[in-house]
Amino acid sequence: MAPKPLGIIMNGVTGRMGYRQHLLRSILAIREQGGVPLASGERVQVRPLLVGRRADALRELAERHGIEDWTTDLAAALEEDRWRIYADFQVTRARPAAIRRAIAAGKDIYTEKPTAETYAEALELAELAEAAGIRNGVVHDKLFLPGLRKLGRLVESGFFGQILSVRGEFGYWVFEGDWQAAQRPSWNYRAEDGGGIVVDMFPHWNYVLENLFGRVESVYARAVTHVSSRIDERGRPYAATADDAAYGVFELAGGVVAQINSSWAVRVHRRELVEFQVDGTHGSAVVGLFDCRIQPRNATPRPVWNPDVPDPHDYLGDWLPVPDNDPAENGFKAQWEQFIRHVVEDGPHPYDFRSGARGVRLAELGLESSRTGRRLRVADAGVGEAEVATR
Ligand SMILES: NC(=O)c1ccc[n+]([C@@H]2O[C@H](COP(=O)([O-])OP(=O)(O)OC[C@H]3O[C@@H](n4cnc5c(N)ncnc54)[C@H](O)[C@@H]3O)[C@@H](O)[C@H]2O)c1
Repeated sequence: MAPKPLGIIMNGVTGRMGYRQHLLRSILAIREQGGVPLASGERVQVRPLLVGRRADALRELAERHGIEDWTTDLAAALEEDRWRIYADFQVTRARPAAIRRAIAAGKDIYTEKPTAETYAEALELAELAEAAGIRNGVVHDKLFLPGLRKLGRLVESGFFGQILSVRGEFGYWVFEGDWQAAQRPSWNYRAEDGGGIVVDMFPHWNYVLENLFGRVESVYARAVTHVSSRIDERGRPYAATADDAAYGVFELAGGVVAQINSSWAVRVHRRELVEFQVDGTHGSAVVGLFDCRIQPRNATPRPVWNPDVPDPHDYLGDWLPVPDNDPAENGFKAQWEQFIRHVVEDGPHPYDFRSGARGVRLAELGLESSRTGRRLRVADAGVGEAEVATR
């Protein structure tokens, strides 16, 4: 049986994420494999419509990848029924207005994070989407990292006993742009353009923490701009007005304490660009993007602090690697397949606009905590004023 076509408006495909992860690694890979298999045994085949502001760039992309449809006219695309899904990978600032139009047009919507720049707006988008009865989803790619999948399995299997704490180190050195080109877009370093590492990374930490360990109940963060001037894509110097590092402490439901450092001004001295250590009463784990090592309670060394004698013990050698039992899969593609099944056959997809809004809220509270020096409680529901945590 021929697969059913599924039209997808893809807005922002000339960008880093839109092109590489969403178009190339996800939608074109799905097209290449003959579509997404459904529970019924049928398949749906994706048909992308590239949308953007620059006709030349879109035409070139479409030709390069054998894509028939592209346009600079989003309004016209939204009017056509054959495009069922609207997907947004634009700069964050441009996103809410486009999503509002897509909701009004009755499209199902899949978007990059953050869904909006403020929690109030992110929550409003969630409410509008729910009122319109459309399917809505937000990326949650970090949960698909092989290392984090192994971590999820360790949590589910009860390996840790009672989980006590989580320590995360994320980051790498992003070049200033003078003697080596910066490896991230310059808007990331300008607050006025929606940049900043808190806005970028706290939405990720929110869904990682709430899906693996428990909802975030309070946050204390210190956001700083370590590198205050940079050179942009055209070689012009600019003031870096956004935070490029954030040091956060998050208390989770169930009592787990998570500390996560996020930085674009740190040189990597770890196995991978992100690493989490989880300590529990019965065992600990250290995971990265791919790797996962564990140390059970019964194989824990017994260090004794003695500054007078060099310690010959190989602490890193005590850890046991967890094998790759599952083939690694691109997280963005897996998410797309999950969302497509959600749209066409009501498959599960808990990563909706509301979960996206919780991520935006954590970023907002993180910045407020940094400004005020206060630990803030994350309210259960509604927009709510941030409360100063008293515990
Ligand atoms: N999930 C992740 O791991 C991850 C990683 C990086 C970025 N992101 C998110 O993806 C989005 C895009 O980030 P990126 O790094 O690909 O950025 P980018 O600058 O590479 O791409 C941005 C896209 O938006 C378009 N654009 C730029 N200014 C615009 C404007 N004023 N109006 C409309 N469109 C405009 C650009 O043409 C381009 O297509 C951001 O919201 C960012 O937070 C997510």
